[in-house]
Amino acid sequence: MSDLPVNPANLHPLPFQPSFEQIPDDEAQTSQELAETLHSILETTFKDNGHAHRSVHAKSHGLLYGHLTVLDNLPTHLAQGAFAKPGTVALALRLSTNPGDILDDKVSTPRGLAIKLIGVEGPRLPGSEADVTQDFVMQNAKAFTAPTPKAFLKTLKLLAKTTDKGPGLKKAFSAVLRGVESAVEAVGGESPTLKSLGGHPQTHILGETFYSVVPFLYGPYYAKLSVVPVAPELKALTDQHVDFGDNPDGLRAAVNAYFSAHGGTWEVRIQLATDIEKMPIEDASVIWPEDLSPYLTVARIDVPAQPAWNAEKAREIDDGLSFSPWHGLAAHRPLGGVMRVRKPAYEMSARYRGTHNGCPMHEPRPKGQDV
Ligand code: HEM
Repeated sequence: MSDLPVNPANLHPLPFQPSFEQIPDDEAQTSQELAETLHSILETTFKDNGHAHRSVHAKSHGLLYGHLTVLDNLPTHLAQGAFAKPGTVALALRLSTNPGDILDDKVSTPRGLAIKLIGVEGPRLPGSEADVTQDFVMQNAKAFTAPTPKAFLKTLKLLAKTTDKGPGLKKAFSAVLRGVESAVEAVGGESPTLKSLGGHPQTHILGETFYSVVPFLYGPYYAKLSVVPVAPELKALTDQHVDFGDNPDGLRAAVNAYFSAHGGTWEVRIQLATDIEKMPIEDASVIWPEDLSPYLTVARIDVPAQPAWNAEKAREIDDGLSFSPWHGLAAHRPLGGVMRVRKPAYEMSARYRGTHNGCPMHEPRPKGQDV
């Protein structure tokens, strides 16, 4: 095998075949138990706060508006779905951390990024027919902590038991874990389990690269997606330690401080699958090798300077919107067990929030086309 990096023009993406997806007999049962467990988290936090937050990724740190521009002259295999034609669409963006509790930011946990493109064209996914949005829901990791929904259910049941149990304890636990995590990293391996329990390094969220983690259709092919900071001011924040002082919302403050002075630019990159063995669909824990298929740039995100988090935006984006990989084009149908079970889970969580906050979810349309 050659050590030369893959030339994007010579990439041979693998056409998707329905046999790449394998649905286990007990998936419906697992899916139901996942929804029940997530529902129990919603009930607990609603009882404590009197407000319905997302059952995971409850706390937002940046709520932003901007634009996505699809690049000119993309080769045909990259010019698919939402990226089929050059042009610009509006977007909303939500930065979050993964617990279902609203915790002090010193309990440092993995980060999420959800984006919603507003005004995409093309045939739609089931349940999303009336809309014109395309969501991408990402985390700052290249693969999921669990290979299958069933394995994830086990972890989620444990996490659900810790919901609202002593944030003070979680904070102390996290500080200890961070020490352990540094030790694990020093000997060459990162531990996703420790990170998801609160041992994530206390770094600036705007320096992170985010990944779809799990695959989706990319026209006739299948792919993962990443969003990478490219503005020099953003890149300077990668791995930068942030001192939160006594502020429980230190990440929010850091994001607000950044966007009061600067805009931001990210690239959207696509990793097309070229090999079903090395780039599987049903095992969400596999990092697809980038030497075989690198992430290639298809679009740019520009976000102007703006107030990055305030109560008005929290009403609009935290409470008024839901982001789901199942909001979008048929050309980007989510693939694999983890993606399949996300559909009912996200619908249940969004419905609960809409009902309990008296603010039904809506899918936005381009300005002037609101219905
Ligand atoms: C079986 C697997 C999964 C389940 C059951 C699940 C479930 C959920 C639920 C119920 C929500 C809240 C939705 C709402 O109230 O609007 C959510 C949000 C979120 N999930 Fe997942 N998820 C799963 C896998 C993943 C993966 C693989 C990623 C990473 C790519 C991810 C990233 C996120 C993010 C970033 C949010 C917050 C979205 C926002 O800002 O609105 N999840 N998830």
